[in-house]
Amino acid sequence: MPIINRIAEFHADMTAWRRDLHAHPETAFEEHRTSDLVAECLESFGVEVHRGLAGTGVVGTIRNGEGPAIGLRADMDALHIPEANTFGHASKHEGKMHACGHDGHTAMLLGAARYLAETKRFKGTVHVIFQPAEENEGGGRVMVEEGLFKTFPVQGVYGMHNWPGLPAGHFAVRSGPIMASYDVFEITVTGRGSHAAMPHQAVDPIVVAADIVGALQTVVSRSMDPLESAVLSVTQVHAGDTWNVIPDVAVLRGTVRAFQPAVQDQVEAAINRIARGLCQTHGATCATRYERRYPPTINSAAETELAARAAAAVAGMDRVEHRPTPSMGSEDFSFMLRERPGSYIWLGNGPGQGGCMLHNPGYDFNDEVLPVGASYWATLVEQVLPQDG
Ligand code: NI
Repeated sequence: MPIINRIAEFHADMTAWRRDLHAHPETAFEEHRTSDLVAECLESFGVEVHRGLAGTGVVGTIRNGEGPAIGLRADMDALHIPEANTFGHASKHEGKMHACGHDGHTAMLLGAARYLAETKRFKGTVHVIFQPAEENEGGGRVMVEEGLFKTFPVQGVYGMHNWPGLPAGHFAVRSGPIMASYDVFEITVTGRGSHAAMPHQAVDPIVVAADIVGALQTVVSRSMDPLESAVLSVTQVHAGDTWNVIPDVAVLRGTVRAFQPAVQDQVEAAINRIARGLCQTHGATCATRYERRYPPTINSAAETELAARAAAAVAGMDRVEHRPTPSMGSEDFSFMLRERPGSYIWLGNGPGQGGCMLHNPGYDFNDEVLPVGASYWATLVEQVLPQDG
């Protein structure tokens, strides 16, 4: 694989950092040890270090003369999953593990930073962004809200995630939506409780809620353009405490995934319409809450071309897949892409031991791809910020 030779020489170091991080996983906004390790590494490479954005966030700045600026982002957090692996670098923190490969993402960006600080074969500024709390808690959003791009202005921002199932060292790039939005909703149906043997004295919120669950199944199947994508799943039903009482209240909760903000608007409106309409039909009252957690991850066209060119230079044209099927999973790099143009690409992690996918207790990042990912970062910088440009 035509990786950068100097980066290949860091393979053992990147593997050591990666395994150390894997053995010491830390979850959302508690990445203190991880943040210290990243900052210490960057300082040892002679990189200017800024700490404290979103608490444990770290930004390293590498300058070489006047020129545009680029942002490269890695995530640092682990998940609340008890690790099933028993190898030497398995998690030492009970109930937590790096099951999404953010340990590998951090090690690859550190490797790239070391190379870029040493060689400086670019003109301009590179900000390497290490973010906390990618999983669930929106550390990327918090960094943006705390002024990430005001303090570190960039013309483009880039992200990379390992992808089990894609052959090791291959890349997949896609302009437009690549990951879905992540929204949650709650519907509270308030009726009138009574003795269960005297339903005529009640407005039964359970019956209303059941009608709503059924009718919600028509939102995607009957009201959406079949060529658009969305998921609406009711994931929680809460009502009642005993056998012989009709309760006052029933609560439904669930999640919505989509790729287009207009589809999110449409699904939100449909949830409100159905919930309120059915409550009114049955004489119950209705309260709905719809919360947009992560927006869809939408790559800009020009920056995706740049990402594809850098990936092809490292892996070869035939190892870069164009327009892979997007994922209904979500990613808080989307908050950075809302602020600046950029591209988020997938790096093949291979089949993995036992075929474990992301968020599986048997998952492990594939150390063989560390120099491939680091070479992609370095090549992207050298191509986007050319020295003779
Ligand atoms: Ni992840």
